[in-house]
Amino acid sequence: MKKIAVTGGLGYIGSHTVVELQNEGFEVVIIDDLSNSEIAVLAGIEKITGKKPAFETIDVCDTEKLRACFKKHSHIDAVIHFAAYKAVGESVAKALEYYRNNVCGLISLLTVMREFECANIVFSSSCTVYGQPDVLPVTELSPIKKAESPYGSTKQMSEDIITDTVAAEKSLSAILLRYFNPIGAHPSALIGELPKGVPNNLLPYITQTAAGLRTELHVFGNDYNTPDGSCIRDYIYVLDLAQAHVVALQRMLGSKESGSLEIFNIGTGKGLSVLEILHEFMQANGVNVPYKIVGRRAGDIEQIWAETTRANEVLGWRAHTPLNEVLQSAWKWEQKLRG
Ligand code: UFG
Repeated sequence: MKKIAVTGGLGYIGSHTVVELQNEGFEVVIIDDLSNSEIAVLAGIEKITGKKPAFETIDVCDTEKLRACFKKHSHIDAVIHFAAYKAVGESVAKALEYYRNNVCGLISLLTVMREFECANIVFSSSCTVYGQPDVLPVTELSPIKKAESPYGSTKQMSEDIITDTVAAEKSLSAILLRYFNPIGAHPSALIGELPKGVPNNLLPYITQTAAGLRTELHVFGNDYNTPDGSCIRDYIYVLDLAQAHVVALQRMLGSKESGSLEIFNIGTGKGLSVLEILHEFMQANGVNVPYKIVGRRAGDIEQIWAETTRANEVLGWRAHTPLNEVLQSAWKWEQKLRG
């Protein structure tokens, strides 16, 4: 049985990926410092899969503790590296914290992986590396634009660090997954997104408004150059995204070659506007979500969606869950949270 370390494995995407990994028969060691996650997620994972993964409370920047963890859980075959800060707006105010956690954390991890001869890494990257693309949809070969925020900059730097390390080490293989906008929750409603305080992201804001926690959704701008004037994104079901990690990992572990670097866009290939997804949510769940159009949010990209041919053909993966099911899962999770 292959052993996989999952940093940030109690987070939103991490926890869904751990579920999929355990369902596929992988042995999982979660490394998470609980800075933006809850220990209760571990019980949710256990309930869904019938198996409790190993868990270590470690900040990946703490190289000594990471070493001890790799020693304790000997022969880790691969790492999926989620652990990172992820709020675009916050990153502007806390630039140093973002660079430290996201960049130093990766360097610390790669250092320990080399010491323990762990030669495979799947990295959580983001479509944020493309900035506002000139041509849509974006392919993996679309130009990398100057980052709009320290957060985006840490993702670009991390991609460069991994690319250069693969070139230098030869034995290390890496897959960079550029996620679009993950949404939804596990259909069991045992795990899902747990935003702290007022949500920054659209879907948790919609579900909290539907639940009556927020008065109304603010739609940031209807004067963009899009059909209905609101921004367009590629919303991908978190469980489809989790499955992309499993197939990426299987591809790496099944390959006889080392020293490869591959990049995949992980999205649906379809763009939806803020107003479209809002109306789809109301229709899928039969609930009303009061909303108001307000001014644009600083730093927002007008529109982006993925070209997913490479992931479809090379990984044999595609997003398959219908949007109404995804939106129902998000609402079911919100209702569960509200008891
Ligand atoms: N939006 C609203 N109202 C809200 C929240 C969001 O209208 O209350 C709009 C935004 O203006 C944007 C769209 O909904 O047009 C999506 O916004 P999100 O904040 O949910 O997502 P972003 O596309 O801004 O950012 C997300 C992740 C980032 C990641 C980026 C690209 O939060 O971490 O996708 O990968 F970098």
